[in-house]
Amino acid sequence: MRIKSILTMTGVVAAFIWISAMPAQAQPKPAAAAQTAPVCAKCHEAQWKSTDLTAHGAKNDADGGMCQSCHGDASAHIKDPNKVKPADPFGKAGTAETRTAVCLTCHSGNRDLAFWAAGKHQLNDVTCSNCHSIHGKALAPSINKFVTTFRPGQWEGCGNCHQQIRAAIFKPSHHPIIEGKVKCSDCHNPHGALSPAMVKQPTINDQCYTCHADKRGPYVFNHPPVEENCVTCHNPHGSVHAKLLNENAPNLCQDCHDWSRHPGTVYAGQGGWLCAPGDTNPACVGKTSQPNPAVNNRLVTRACLNCHNAIHGSNAPGNRGKYLTR
Ligand code: HEC
Ligand code: HEC
Ligand code: HEC
Ligand code: HEC
Ligand code: HEC
Ligand code: HEC
Ligand code: HEC
Ligand code: HEC
Ligand code: HEC
Ligand code: HEC
Repeated sequence: MRIKSILTMTGVVAAFIWISAMPAQAQPKPAAAAQTAPVCAKCHEAQWKSTDLTAHGAKNDADGGMCQSCHGDASAHIKDPNKVKPADPFGKAGTAETRTAVCLTCHSGNRDLAFWAAGKHQLNDVTCSNCHSIHGKALAPSINKFVTTFRPGQWEGCGNCHQQIRAAIFKPSHHPIIEGKVKCSDCHNPHGALSPAMVKQPTINDQCYTCHADKRGPYVFNHPPVEENCVTCHNPHGSVHAKLLNENAPNLCQDCHDWSRHPGTVYAGQGGWLCAPGDTNPACVGKTSQPNPAVNNRLVTRACLNCHNAIHGSNAPGNRGKYLTR
């Protein structure tokens, strides 16, 4: 142990003396790992280290060619770094447009970016580097495939700007986003899409079917709003109501289904809790503001789903299917 460290020490000291004894020009080539260190590394060590192991760093050369393809021509800058700065679009003078243009010089062929120009982000001056951190944290190189500005959760990065969505995903009923099982980008293409809300599939329902295939049907008896749009009843991000519902039954159902019509003839009660003027119900004729004796099952009825439990559609034969009760 001791001998080893003494040997190492001696080696280091020897190497130091050897290198410092040589004239500047004649220094030996550094070890293999450092061979590609660009000229910029000398003064911008943090930026070099942070890109070194990434897909971008892999393309770098001794002149810092990759650095310059993002930061602009730096030949004059190297000679007099304090007086001349590179024409850096990521500096103060840059705009969202000029910054995006730099990234697109190489990435415009990317399939996922095909609709960038039509996306809400482009249209609202959000640029690539708002989400992608090229340099990451100083001296903490990342070889992670998707280096987003805010680690670790993608949703945290998105939530920085989308505060309302951030609040939604913490509600009692939510897609398991904060649990790390579902990502924003499972449903959205942050790079833009022609679909509503930039979902990755052409329609919202197609998006839901990618994971909830059982809701696609086809059903013998379908429930029209389900085929039309899942978010009529569900909030995709989060809700205080169970099962991501926008409202609880019966209110949810009664947005569309007239409460006074149900339960219809079988259960007799046509009116409300109280007899109303003009009520044709024999038990109510001539009475107003008195309990309606025909009311018998309203409390049960409020829990619509107890009976209509095949709410997304049914394949059961006959009336059970028709009325979504099985
Ligand atoms: C000899 C040292 C040195 C070298 C080599 C060097 N730089 Fe710099 N660079 C500086 C200094 C000093 C600054 C100014 C820092 C400041 O203002 O905080 C700077 C600033 C910058 C900036 C920020 C400009 C701005 O708008 O504020 C960028 C980008 C940059 N350098 C890129 C490069 C690139 C790319 C290379 C390699 C091709 C390189 N530098 C090589 C010393 C150097
Ligand atoms: C893929 C594009 C890209 C590459 C490659 C790249 N940078 Fe950067 N760099 C950026 C962006 C974007 C910023 C702005 C801050 C951020 O998002 O981290 C930045 C920030 C900087 C800064 C801080 C000054 C500023 O403008 O905010 C310096 C200095 C710098 N980079 C130097 C370098 C050097 C040196 C290299 C090569 C080793 C390099 N960069 C490679 C995109 C790049
Ligand atoms: C000079 C060309 C060039 C420029 C400019 C450039 N990139 Fe890249 N980028 C590449 C290459 C090459 C790769 C690796 C292959 C690939 O994934 O396409 C890459 C990969 C990526 C990746 C995937 C990382 C990974 O590990 O798979 C992201 C994200 C990315 N670039 C974002 C950006 C952003 C943001 C900008 C602008 C700030 C930018 N790039 C500018 C060439 C470039
Ligand atoms: C709103 C945030 C956001 C913006 C703005 C953004 N990206 Fe991305 N990008 C992401 C996320 C999130 C991923 C990971 C996608 C995934 O996991 O499916 C990604 C992935 C990538 C990838 C690698 C995977 C792929 O899709 O091929 C590249 C390359 C890339 N982005 C480049 C860019 C460029 C270039 C721009 C600017 C024109 C840009 N991004 C703008 C969030 C963003
Ligand atoms: C399960 C799929 C899914 C996931 C996961 C998802 N979204 Fe959405 N998002 C949607 C759908 C569907 C809409 C359209 C809602 C509508 O039309 O009412 C939407 C709408 C949006 C909108 C625009 C409308 C609005 O409500 O402001 C934003 C912004 C948004 N989502 C951001 C996010 C962010 C950020 C995340 C991650 C935290 C995320 N989404 C995760 C499906 C999803
Ligand atoms: C730098 C801020 C910023 C970040 C980070 C950001 N967004 Fe956005 N996003 C916006 C702005 C601005 C709009 C347009 C205004 C709006 O609809 O809120 C927008 C709109 C959207 C929309 C609505 C699209 C539509 O057609 O209505 C979706 C979906 C969305 N963003 C998803 C995401 C996702 C997913 C992420 C993370 C990968 C993300 N955003 C990160 C700023 C941001
Ligand atoms: C990327 C896959 C994915 C997509 C796309 C997706 N979901 Fe989910 N969904 C899940 C997962 C995972 C769960 C949680 C399942 C569990 O906990 O057993 C879930 C649960 C649900 C739940 C039940 C929530 C609860 O509290 O039990 C509803 C409702 C739901 N999703 C509706 C939708 C709707 C509507 C869409 C389309 C906007 C959609 N989902 C798209 C993966 C997805
Ligand atoms: C008419 C309103 C309505 C529409 C539209 C709707 N749902 Fe639902 N969904 C409900 C109700 C109500 C529940 C709760 C059922 C329960 O608690 O028994 C539910 C529960 C769910 C669940 C969790 C329980 C289960 O059955 O797996 C998922 C997942 C789900 N819905 C997905 C979807 C998808 C995907 C769509 C679009 C294809 C959709 N929903 C459209 C009303 C609706
Ligand atoms: C967005 C509007 C909407 C919502 C919300 C809605 N429905 Fe429907 N529902 C319809 C439409 C439209 C039909 C088809 C009516 C027809 O065929 O005459 C239908 C049909 C039905 C049927 C079959 C009736 C028949 O005559 O075939 C039942 C049962 C039903 N809905 C129950 C419910 C329940 C329970 C809820 C709440 C969980 C609900 N609905 C929420 C629009 C809605
Ligand atoms: C006790 C079981 C039960 C409950 C609870 C219930 N229903 Fe029904 N519903 C039925 C049956 C059975 C039918 C079949 C038609 C009939 O026999 O009247 C039906 C028929 C329907 C129909 C189609 C006939 C019509 O009147 O248009 C709709 C729509 C409907 N129910 C909606 C609802 C809504 C909304 C709720 C909650 C407020 C609800 N149901 C609660 C059993 C129930």
